Amino acid sequence: MEVLHELCWLAHDNRIALCPEEKYRNVLDLGTGDGTWAIEFADMHEEATVIGVDMHRFQPTFVPPNCEFQIDNLEEDWTWSGCFDFIHARMLSGCFKKPRHIVSSAQLTPGGYFEVTDILYTPKSDDGTLVSNSPLRTWANQLASAAREIGRPLIGDASEYLDMLSEAGFVDIHVVVKNLPTNSWPNDKTLKEIGKISSLALELETISMALFTHGLGWDPEAVIATCAHVREEFKSPDVHAYFPLIIVYGRKPCRPGSVEER
Ligand SMILES: C[S@@+](CC[C@H](N)C(=O)[O-])C[C@H]1O[C@@H](n2cnc3c(N)ncnc32)[C@H](O)[C@@H]1O
Repeated sequence: MEVLHELCWLAHDNRIALCPEEKYRNVLDLGTGDGTWAIEFADMHEEATVIGVDMHRFQPTFVPPNCEFQIDNLEEDWTWSGCFDFIHARMLSGCFKKPRHIVSSAQLTPGGYFEVTDILYTPKSDDGTLVSNSPLRTWANQLASAAREIGRPLIGDASEYLDMLSEAGFVDIHVVVKNLPTNSWPNDKTLKEIGKISSLALELETISMALFTHGLGWDPEAVIATCAHVREEFKSPDVHAYFPLIIVYGRKPCRPGSVEER
């Protein structure tokens, strides 16, 4: 299993999504990346047709018959003629100039679900082992500045998605926050396992390179050096840090805009 997918799978309590499991017929995975989620969902739900959409083509060619990939820019007008009954978006923080517009563009049938999962790049610790001027916190602040600089701000808090879904008329909105420990420091067995995977999945250079070079004008060598420094703290068992992982989902009302649905 792809590492990021495995991380999300564990953080979703061994589920592919947290919104109610229904007999979905038309499913859309926004910014599908290598398509792992879309392929797995299609395998698990043979009754559904799953479209994974991304602006880059790096999805596999051999996929389940009920899964297809399309190349498109989600910031342009959406050209699907019909509606979906489940739209999924994972790890898209910092991808869009106007995430609010993406949420309000969601073409869902009444009763359909929208679910979004994102890491908040705001590291925390509950026992003071992550100090305020630590390399990890400094890196996270620089990452947020770089994203703002290029006009694609990172999601800073689950309430941002809650507001977006609410403004777009969604009801039954749920917010679930999980913790992704930076390494295997927790005693809890599941968190330890998640931490072990986080330290592999959260590739600091991959996350930082484009943002720091384009957003902050850094040389690639400086990014690599900073990441090496941050990684020491990231992997230190003495620093009990974690990143929040947020999962927010909501339902399109059966009768759009009806007062009783809200
Ligand atoms: C961090 S990856 C997440 C991939 C996948 N959702 C996952 O969870 O593994 C973000 C993806 O969003 C895609 N993306 C970014 N902006 C996009 C846009 N405007 N339209 C379509 N895809 C976009 C990128 O190409 C990339 O594959």
